[in-house]
Formats: sequence, structure tokens, C-alpha cells
Amino acid sequence: MLKVYRGELMHFLADPAKVALQDSYQYFEDGLMIIKDGCIEQIGEANELLPTLDKSIEVTHYQSGLMMPGFIDTHVHYPQTEMIASYGEQLLEWLENYTFPFERQFSDFEHGKNVAEFFLSQLLEAGTTTALVFGTVHKESVDAFFTVAQQKKLRMICGKVLMDQNCPDYLTDTAQSGYDDSKALIERWHNTDRLQYAITPRFAPTCSTEQLNKAGQLLAENPSVYLHTHLSENKAEIAWVKELFPDSDGYLDVYDKSKLLGRRSVFAHGVHLHDHECQRLGETNSAIAFCPSSNLFLGSGLFNLQQAQKFDVNVGLGSDIGAGTTFSMLSTINEGYKTQQLRQEKLSPFQSLYLATLGGAVALDLEGTIGNFVKGAEADFVLLDYHATPLMARRMQHCKTLSEKLFILSMLGDERHVKATHIMGEKVTEK
Ligand code: GUN
Ligand code: ZN
Repeated sequence: MLKVYRGELMHFLADPAKVALQDSYQYFEDGLMIIKDGCIEQIGEANELLPTLDKSIEVTHYQSGLMMPGFIDTHVHYPQTEMIASYGEQLLEWLENYTFPFERQFSDFEHGKNVAEFFLSQLLEAGTTTALVFGTVHKESVDAFFTVAQQKKLRMICGKVLMDQNCPDYLTDTAQSGYDDSKALIERWHNTDRLQYAITPRFAPTCSTEQLNKAGQLLAENPSVYLHTHLSENKAEIAWVKELFPDSDGYLDVYDKSKLLGRRSVFAHGVHLHDHECQRLGETNSAIAFCPSSNLFLGSGLFNLQQAQKFDVNVGLGSDIGAGTTFSMLSTINEGYKTQQLRQEKLSPFQSLYLATLGGAVALDLEGTIGNFVKGAEADFVLLDYHATPLMARRMQHCKTLSEKLFILSMLGDERHVKATHIMGEKVTEK
């Protein structure tokens, strides 16, 4: 079955930090996207491709707006949706005072489903079509999330949190029960439709060495699943890890000793990394989720993107809801731009939109499947609207180049500017 969309079209082919800018993306002012059975068949200039199509094929013409690949959120907590904007604390106190009590409710499958439904509709409204998602310690939280994501035909990655120490009793598993529950969830969900599993130790402080080792064992037994955790987010957290794991050579080494690094390992934050840690992330093909909204909200620090790039570390963008304060990857880019300004660095609109799309796909080892419009990729895409708000519409009148247009879109844009979201070629939200 063919579906065809016409309009302004852009996607990335490579990282603008690694190739000449003009080789990093394709842009068609009047483009055509041909989708076959939910996947990209071809894109190109409308005037070249239209004559090749059978006259009977209906073409959806988006007269204004920009079609781009759906955004990819490489780090987010669905159970924290309703505790977003909790006041006044930095990481460890924020976890203790707000997060842990809140996550308790997710032992209830129905509660999880209710929140997952809302969470996923918010993601789609914001133009995010794939996410790497934390559940809670309860296996029911993951069953609930995947049940709803499956109904919506989404490509989503989620996992049950592992935590067996330094947290309230009501939220603890054990090294063995965490292993057993994760294994059962992998068997039930991993690679079912578009769903994939992530082994999810919360972070080093809440995991015993035995639990981290068991996570490493499970990863070795299931090499196509993901590893998803937090790393070097906050200075007090890092000092605590040093105390808890005196035999390790730094925070990353705690995970490395348990064999948790690799091509499908994603570490959230990495705000305070040493060069040797970045080098190790790069050589193991591990990825970092850059979460600027969260890093600013919790006062964690300013991510050093240049350091990650220097050591060839894969980087994606993350909202980190509920420490982040927005579902929108456009707003997340806005925050990211400001973090880099505070570091005296420039984050170009090409670089940031790459991070939000193809960069996320590379970080998740899903290049060719999502993140751009190469032949065979799943046709998850958004239509961005330059005129959704009067301010952006006015500002756009003074805009001369594509670069400027993309910059304005990412500085002033949010959910309101996502006019439609499409999953496997089908429109699922429209404003
Ligand atoms: N580190 C351990 N748990 C969490 C969490 O839930 N959010 C953030 N931002 N950092 C964490
Ligand atoms: Zn997080």
C-alpha cells in the first residue's frame, strides 16, 4: 500500500560535526515522500517523482510547514509524568523527597496504563515518536507501558528499574528477583512488534555490585537488548559513588567492571565526565543522553558536548521528564543551546536537529530504522508549523536562510508547532 506526502522536507544523512554541512542533510523545498507499507520507499523533488506515480494515487499536499523525521527522546521516565515541576531540590534530595514516594504507585498495572496513555499522547503531540523510557522497579509498570505503546504501534524501548539498596524498602528488588523479572519481561516483550527491552539499573548508588553483575550477565545472555542507566549527573552523586565503590576508578568504571558498556548502552547525563571516561564510552560505542532541561532544572551542570564529540561518543537528546520540564524536543533544543552558550560554545540548529533525530537513532543503534528518510526506514514523521504562534510567524517574515529558519523554529518552537505526527505513514495527531 502506497501513501504519498508532498511538501517541504528535510532529514539528516550524517552528523554535521563529522562531515561538511552540505553533506549532512537533504532539503527539498517542494519534496515528495513515497511510503510503502509504512516504510520509506523514496524521497526526492516533487516535480521529478510525481510523473513516476500512477495517476490514481492520492497525494497529501502539506502546503505549509516542514516535514522532518519524528523526534527521538533518548532518556525519559514515564512514571514521573505527574511529578514534573517539583520544587527546590537537586538530584539526591529530589529523588528522596519526590521521586521515590511517587514511583510507589506503579505497582498497580491499571495506574501504569493510565499514566502511560497520557504520557504517550503527550510525546506524540510534541512530535516524539520513539523514546528510551524508564519504568519503575515494578514489572507491572513495564507491562502497562508496553501494552499501551503496542496499541499505538509505536517504536518504544522500556525496562524495569533495578534497585536493591539505598532507597525505600517499598521500592527495592533483589539482585535475583530483578534478574528474574527482567528476564521474563525480555521474553514477553523484546522485539514484539516495534517494542524493545532495556535492562535498567537505576544508577550505581541504588544497585549492589551483585545486582550490577547480574545486569551484565543478563546483557551478555541477551545481546540485542539495551542497557539504560544514569551516569555522572551531579557532584554529590559522584562523591557518593566514590564512597560506595572505593575499588573503582571513577563512576563509569563501576558500570564497566560489571560489563555494562557497549553499542546498545545508553548513559543519561554524563555532565561531569573525565576525558578517560569519555574515551572509554567512545571505544565501547556507548551513548550519552544529553538532557539539558533536566540538567538546568536540577542544577546539575552544563554538558560538555565538545568533549563527547572529541572522543567520538554517540550522543542523543533526552527530555528526562520529570526532572526535565518539557516533553518537547524543540524546547529541549532551546535549553541545550543555552547550556552551550554558558560554556562559550555554539550549538548550531543543524547540530541540534541532528541530535533530536538521526543522532538519537544512532545513539539507540537504530540507524536505518528510524531517524531519517532513507529507503526502508519506518515512516514516523512530523509536520512542523512555522505559523502556529503569532510570534514565530512574525519572526519568520525576517528570515532569509534555511539555517535561520531552523534556528527560529528550535528557539521559539514547542508542542504548538507540531501540526501533525505520523506513525508508519499514518497521521495520528493533528492540530
Ligand atoms: N538518577 C537516579 N535516578 C534518577 C532519576 O529518576 N532522575 C534523574 N534525573 N537522575 C536520576
Ligand atoms: Zn533520568
